[in-house]
Amino acid sequence: VFVVKANEVKATIEPTMWGVFFEDINQGADGGLYAELVKNRSFEFDVPMMGWREIKKDGADGSYLITNKGVSSTANTRYIRLESLSGKGYGISNEGFRGMGIKKDNGYDFSVWARQVNGGSVSLLIELAGPDGSRLGSATLKPEGAEWKKYTVSFKSVATEAKAHLELLLDGKGAIDLDMISLFPKDTWKQRAGGLRADMVQLLADMKPGFVRFPGGCIVEGRTLDERFQWKKTIGPAEDRELIINRWNVEFKHRLTPDYFQSFGLGFFEYFQLCEDIGAEPLPILNCGMACQFNTAEVVALDQLDPYIQDALDLIEFANGPVNSTWGKKRAEMGHPEPFNMKMLGVGNENWGSQYIDRLKLFTKAIKEKYPEIKLVNSSGTDPDGDRFDYLNTQLREMKADIIDEHYYRPPQWFLDNVKRYDSYDRKGPKIFAGEYAAQSVRTGSPDNKNNWQCALSEAAFMTGLERNADVVTMASYAPLFAHAEGWQWTPDLIWVDNLRSYGTANYQVQKLFSVNRGSVVVPLLINNEPAAGQKGLYGAASIDRKTNELILKVVNAAENPQDAEFITEGFRGKKGTMTELSSGKLELVNSFEVPLAVGPVQKPVQVRSGKLVVSLKPWSVNVIRVKM
Ligand code: AHR
Repeated sequence: VFVVKANEVKATIEPTMWGVFFEDINQGADGGLYAELVKNRSFEFDVPMMGWREIKKDGADGSYLITNKGVSSTANTRYIRLESLSGKGYGISNEGFRGMGIKKDNGYDFSVWARQVNGGSVSLLIELAGPDGSRLGSATLKPEGAEWKKYTVSFKSVATEAKAHLELLLDGKGAIDLDMISLFPKDTWKQRAGGLRADMVQLLADMKPGFVRFPGGCIVEGRTLDERFQWKKTIGPAEDRELIINRWNVEFKHRLTPDYFQSFGLGFFEYFQLCEDIGAEPLPILNCGMACQFNTAEVVALDQLDPYIQDALDLIEFANGPVNSTWGKKRAEMGHPEPFNMKMLGVGNENWGSQYIDRLKLFTKAIKEKYPEIKLVNSSGTDPDGDRFDYLNTQLREMKADIIDEHYYRPPQWFLDNVKRYDSYDRKGPKIFAGEYAAQSVRTGSPDNKNNWQCALSEAAFMTGLERNADVVTMASYAPLFAHAEGWQWTPDLIWVDNLRSYGTANYQVQKLFSVNRGSVVVPLLINNEPAAGQKGLYGAASIDRKTNELILKVVNAAENPQDAEFITEGFRGKKGTMTELSSGKLELVNSFEVPLAVGPVQKPVQVRSGKLVVSLKPWSVNVIRVKM
């Protein structure tokens, strides 16, 4: 028997409560969310021809040359010169990000910066081809003159193909120079040219996330400080954004991803725009003057920290400043004169030691002096039970941090055992952001971890504990978010994609269920006068949605047997309600491309009779009940 004290408000649930954590890991951005199909479009990868191959059809003759312009800017220095000696059949081909996912009847926008060489008159034949060489779509264009100019041409595909490639063939003898060779589908999110993959954004939008944390993760830190994420290099025209190697360009279980670079086509403007599109608060995280401590442990000298702090101040101006401010003007020039209304900013990701605290203090002083309204998110790292965590926690609490970001990648049992973790946290201290968490079916860092139902179930139980403590925990996000089935470095992940398909894991279904059923205030849900936190394998949280005047009950049955649950409360007026159930009789069950909803929501009606609501909870189930009050 559960007793709901519907008139006893314990806490307000912030609109930010359930959000998402985005990082360009597992091909999350390039080759994933960012819909560009050409890999290494401007030849800036360490190996300039990575992703490209020379083609000589029917004995054609020609050659290519990569030239470095050596201009003062460090962005986009290289271009390719193609010279055809035979007139036809010579060119280059791009393999895409493990192939290009192409859809029948969809339109494709090809663009290129080009110029003729030595007064020539060479045309470019653009062909999208299947693995067997079949032609899916084609177009031609002819660059005019010796000046660099951007050319665009669109065409449709006649077939669907997950592993297409792009061929560029010269027509005519002579040479042309090419740069920023790009191919985008037309069916991007909101049909924006050069935009994002619509199916992936839709999965996020469906979650109605309260916030998006971006751009990471370890990529914020970089392997070295030179390779850190610098937001200023990710805005403005795409061709001016300086590419860097991805921190996740690593070997992992013999899955080499040497071709993992960040083009920053998905940059900070696009992140803010994405947040706005899906109604989520933006939460950018910036480098705090420390490279990834799991790599080089390089830190910038304290007396050299100013440019890093200036980046933070300028970011706030970029997001919120008036159009006549230096950085607000840049936002307006990119098409968004209105402010993005950013309210939170993270400084550092999983950085630790006194080095972190020393740097954080300088950031905090400068930001709070100029922008006292911005809430700062500070990181307490990945080791909630260890010394490192205790040290940081004490320091951050002494500093009166606004929000502390805790991370935990732990076994499912840890999540069940720690459902009361926040019951004892100081109610007057900093707020908590459970910024990265995921149950690990094998162990943290194991490539064999699965997104199975046991993990999702344990996370759901833990999340009832987060919700019960919404006065302390104001934000939470599963991590990582996306993974490409052929290009990942980390598992488990919330959403899996390939070149054409995407699906939400069982864990995604849990996150979505909690997020779309976020209440406004927490009310007690008790078993024998104690919070429902594991008695007979039952975990729960209750809230009221002030907008719809509904009572929302979230109940997890982590036991292997079905259980009847009886809910008693004052003030049940609506007789009917709904129960949405996620369940599986197999803890090892996973969703997949073939069966994306193996664990999926099932909705049923429920009825209040004589002031009581009685429901049957399936074994190993997560249930959300909504009843009018
Ligand atoms: O989510 C994967 C990684 O885990 C993140 O980049 C980092 O913050 C954490 O260690």
